[in-house]
Amino acid sequence: MQQRTIGDRSVGAIGLGGMPLSIEGRPDRERAIATVHAALDAGVTLIDTADAYHLDATDPGHNELLIAEALASYGGDTSEVLVATKGGHTRPGDGSWALDGRPEYLKRACDASLRRLGVEAIGLYQFHRPDPEVPFEESVGALAELLDAGKIRLAGVSNADPGQIRAADLVLGGRLAAVQNQYSPAFRSSEPELELCAELGTAFLPWSPLGGISKAAGLADRHAAFAEVAKARGVSPQQVCLAWMLAKGPHVLPIPGSSRPETIRDSVAAADLVLDDAELAALDRA
Ligand SMILES: NC(=O)c1ccc[n+]([C@@H]2O[C@H](COP(=O)([O-])OP(=O)(O)OC[C@H]3O[C@@H](n4cnc5c(N)ncnc54)[C@H](OP(=O)(O)O)[C@@H]3O)[C@@H](O)[C@H]2O)c1
Repeated sequence: MQQRTIGDRSVGAIGLGGMPLSIEGRPDRERAIATVHAALDAGVTLIDTADAYHLDATDPGHNELLIAEALASYGGDTSEVLVATKGGHTRPGDGSWALDGRPEYLKRACDASLRRLGVEAIGLYQFHRPDPEVPFEESVGALAELLDAGKIRLAGVSNADPGQIRAADLVLGGRLAAVQNQYSPAFRSSEPELELCAELGTAFLPWSPLGGISKAAGLADRHAAFAEVAKARGVSPQQVCLAWMLAKGPHVLPIPGSSRPETIRDSVAAADLVLDDAELAALDRA
């Protein structure tokens, strides 16, 4: 697969988003492991997870444990796989999503992720979402300490605006490796963040790139231009969507979620789909 860079790491341009494997509607364990193995077979070397990808307080870290199990049981070489996890979101007893951006909490959460992933250092650790109760710089300061302590190899932020991205890079001493924000045909308002990342030399990871778990299948119904290009090219509209994103810049690495081997295989093929200027212009306008 075409390679792209996050910090000093080179990974496949299309990653695997792990969330659908562990939240509401998740598949059984066998299909979940088969999906991760299919991704690895297809050349995926970036897997996005989070400590909060689970159903409720009864199975914290379900997705991290699953990814660790899938990597351990894979027959091939996994040494080049970058597992990107996150801390700062919690899922309390009722299954809702809450925030905790306190530095002491993030450091504890990182230790728990290290244990679940079974690694000495986390490849990419991302602050999941700014917590309005905690100054953003203090939360990111915890990531700087984790970098200095060698517990994480790369640091990133998620759901951050341009001011927060610049602040994070400053607190990290220029070491902000990645920004993960929502970006899809239906959600383009993070284009300023995407452009700022190009300026800073920071990777941009669009989350829910196909519109989200419940909407990804209906992408073509909602965006006619993507359906038209897909028909002309003989590929899926989801592939067209990911190829359009990759064309936004060499620093863009989409992380489509998947709960079936066939969907991640189809998504990975987008790395080989080169759209022409007329197609890209039509998709930009759509
Ligand atoms: N940082 C954050 O705050 C945040 C928030 C949300 C998500 N994320 C991350 O971003 C990742 C992606 O987002 P997402 O999972 O919410 O949404 P998404 O990637 O937009 O959509 C996921 C759905 O797309 C379907 N799909 C994937 N590839 C396909 C293809 N080629 N053709 C047809 N359908 C396809 C999958 O269906 P099947 O299930 O049938 O395979 C899956 O359920 C997540 O997994 C997670 O890692 C981060």
